[in-house]
Amino acid sequence: MKKEKFSFEFTSYDNKAELENNQRQVLEQADKISQNAYAPYSNFKVGAAVQLENGEIFSSSNQENAAYPVGSCAERGLLAYVNANFPDIKITKLAVSTPNINYPLPPCGMCRQYILEMEKKQNSSIELLLAGNESEVFVLNSAKDLLPLHFTDEFLG
Ligand code: THU
Repeated sequence: MKKEKFSFEFTSYDNKAELENNQRQVLEQADKISQNAYAPYSNFKVGAAVQLENGEIFSSSNQENAAYPVGSCAERGLLAYVNANFPDIKITKLAVSTPNINYPLPPCGMCRQYILEMEKKQNSSIELLLAGNESEVFVLNSAKDLLPLHFTDEFLG
């Protein structure tokens, strides 16, 4: 028997002004589109923005439904669109933001798995920028860090 340990490092910025210009630009798009969230049931607005390796930025928000499970998180809706339209262009950054809490939004478990799938598919990690309303900003190197002992296609044989 042996004890195992999982740990990861990330950077916490006091505010958006501390970010590099490019990081701030992507995060600002996530902030902006969070205002368009369709969240009449939770009233919890989330915005997500990605930057592709060609510099283009795309964004989306969470989309809820009266039949609750039909709704989608901002991240997954956005990643599905980007992967459908630009399957051969790598995603370099993903920013997620909410005005609802003063803490960097931790992506839900399903979104972590979805981001991980995109990383595996493109064979490179995606920098994650997590923000709240006037909160600090967490910058992580990869979705892998948020999902220890993750399940991937390698187990499917
Ligand atoms: N939500 C996201 O859009 N992303 C997350 O990572 C966490 C949760 C949305 C889903 C739902 O519309 C609302 O926030 C409350 O859970």
